[in-house]
Amino acid sequence: MNKLVSWSAEDEAVAGTNTDATECKLGAVQLGYWADPYVRLFARRAERRAPEINRGYYARVRAVEMFIHQFLERCDSKCQIINLGCGFDTLFWRLRDVTQAVGNFIELDFPTVTAKKCQIIKRNKQLLEKIANEDGEVACRVGELHADGYHLAGCDLRDGGGVRRALAACGARADAPTLVLAECVLVYLREDAAAALLQLLACAFPKQLLLIYEQCNLDDKFGEVMIRNLSLRGCSAVGERGRLGVAAAVERLRAAGYGGARGWDMAAVWRALPDDERARVERLEPLDEQELLHQLHQHYALTVASQGDLFADIDLNA
Ligand SMILES: C[S@@+](CC[C@H](N)C(=O)[O-])C[C@H]1O[C@@H](n2cnc3c(N)ncnc32)[C@H](O)[C@@H]1O
Repeated sequence: MNKLVSWSAEDEAVAGTNTDATECKLGAVQLGYWADPYVRLFARRAERRAPEINRGYYARVRAVEMFIHQFLERCDSKCQIINLGCGFDTLFWRLRDVTQAVGNFIELDFPTVTAKKCQIIKRNKQLLEKIANEDGEVACRVGELHADGYHLAGCDLRDGGGVRRALAACGARADAPTLVLAECVLVYLREDAAAALLQLLACAFPKQLLLIYEQCNLDDKFGEVMIRNLSLRGCSAVGERGRLGVAAAVERLRAAGYGGARGWDMAAVWRALPDDERARVERLEPLDEQELLHQLHQHYALTVASQGDLFADIDLNA
């Protein structure tokens, strides 16, 4: 396991955001927003959130799926997925149920988080059976799990050397088509640390699609409330990255060395979802004030960046 740069109360609070995300996802899954048979294994309880929040989670999960689908369609050989700040995300298991195209799935998070994820996986046959190879082999060390095609390792994303070592230990290959996923993660890093991580990744994987989902446009009243609430919980870095608009977030990806980059706020993503899907989700729970959803969507963005030709044409409406 990699050493942490230094473990602070803020890191503890940031790691805790994973619990919220998992419990909120379980709440939305139980209401029928999307199907995920695995999330209940990671959450102690379901958190019931307001309808606009549930719709926001749905839009994010669905949009990430849409981009992963495009990524897999373009892969010319076995690909790899690197899930940064993976928390208790269940993407590996959901994908395993529908495709064998992912040759290696790598998950990185703080060691405290990966250790808990490791324990949960080891306790649950339903999770473990999708990971073990034919001989049932799974290597578990403190906070880490290594199997054929699935690796979970602890590291601090602010420590470039640690990230490189973790990727190498997880069998990451520079020549493989690579999807790097960062959902609600980079926003918890200081701007210079996030920029250094993006530069490292842009260099390391020349056939790459990067997908980032996180807060944006926080430089207004709505944003101030969100930043204050997160600061009160101990997560103070959010204000640094989250204040940028979508265009600036895209520019930041180009500055990190990515060949192509584009992005949308979640209001645009929501409009791009198929009409019948939106209609189904809108029937699940009444939402009297549509403005609440629009406001929320304006403060989250999906940005994508590509390295090499393979993924250069990936787009929201493709
Ligand atoms: C809001 S959760 C999101 C989890 C997951 N990506 C999802 O969408 O459900 C943020 C995650 O990023 C991780 N994280 C934040 N900063 C990190 C860092 N410096 N090193 C490793 N992990 C970090 C946290 O521990 C947490 O699990």
